[in-house]
Amino acid sequence: MRDVVKAIEWSDEKLRIVDQTMLPVELVHLELESYHGVIEAIKTLAVRGAPAIGIAGAYAAVLVAVESLKLDAALRCEFLGKALDEIESARPTAVNLSYAVKVQREIFAENRIVAGDIVDEKLVARLLGSASEIHERDRQMCDAIGSFGAELIPNGSTALTICNAGALATGGIGTALGVLYVAKEQGKLKRVYSCETRPLLQGSRLTCWELQQAGINVTLIVDSVAGALMKKGEIDFVVAGADRIAENGDTANKIGTYTLAILAQAHGIPFYIAAPETTFDRSLPRLSDELIELRDSKEVTCGFSAQTAPEGIDVYSPAFDITPKELISAFITDRGVIPGGRK
Ligand code: MRU
Repeated sequence: MRDVVKAIEWSDEKLRIVDQTMLPVELVHLELESYHGVIEAIKTLAVRGAPAIGIAGAYAAVLVAVESLKLDAALRCEFLGKALDEIESARPTAVNLSYAVKVQREIFAENRIVAGDIVDEKLVARLLGSASEIHERDRQMCDAIGSFGAELIPNGSTALTICNAGALATGGIGTALGVLYVAKEQGKLKRVYSCETRPLLQGSRLTCWELQQAGINVTLIVDSVAGALMKKGEIDFVVAGADRIAENGDTANKIGTYTLAILAQAHGIPFYIAAPETTFDRSLPRLSDELIELRDSKEVTCGFSAQTAPEGIDVYSPAFDITPKELISAFITDRGVIPGGRK
């Protein structure tokens, strides 16, 4: 069960990622040798999921250092600052990307004090060590979330999840799906319903693929089926991941998460957010819409090359929504379960 797909690996001075745009049709890898390549992969969602883009961003900073070795010292400082800014802004909502870039930026800054603008193999090795640490820590946090979360799951349960918060989205077994993998190991999980997750179908393309590989009973539903299933008494709990959680418990996650939280409350079904402690952004008292990424209208009107709306139609397509703590039964973190605000 723990032998899940590895979404990200550093090998032979390259970042090797599963190209998630090709799933479920083909399991292919991209080998990224430039930081621009990593940014492109993050923007196109070839690598996606908050922890995974944080890990990819940390490795991208290693590539920045390697690329800067070829530059004249006079150009280096400006190049480094610009490149790190570009990585950080590739996707705005997940706290993990800005955290990873911040950690790597500090290593560049310390080096600058000690050695001026010298970028050498020693600095590259330090950055790589730091990226590997972020990666390994994420793997361990997923295991811990899985163990804490599984304790909440009654025998014979059926879960509902949205998007993909699994191995493909993290450095380990996943957050929301981590809970499900461990519950399955413990013989408690009967079935998982996976919301399709319009418009980019991370639920049907990625979660269904991942759970099927792991031998978990998974049933795909289109997003609008969730309420009807709850009404029929088919769902025992909902579990989702998170991209950023503010001090007051406001939780940003894939668009549609808020709707599921409302539905879960209306039907008296527990609604859990599974996320590591690092997803909590204590610098923000609450979340605002400014942090919510807006996606290209083409993903809605012409997704997967099929035109499904008239030319020129106005589209509103936020990638994430914000669920208030009052709708969350509990946060399952790597340090334990924190009560939410739902009565
Ligand atoms: O747009 P995506 O696919 O990156 O959105 C991902 C999610 O919303 C996940 O639920 C979240 O990042 C947590 S992944 C452990």
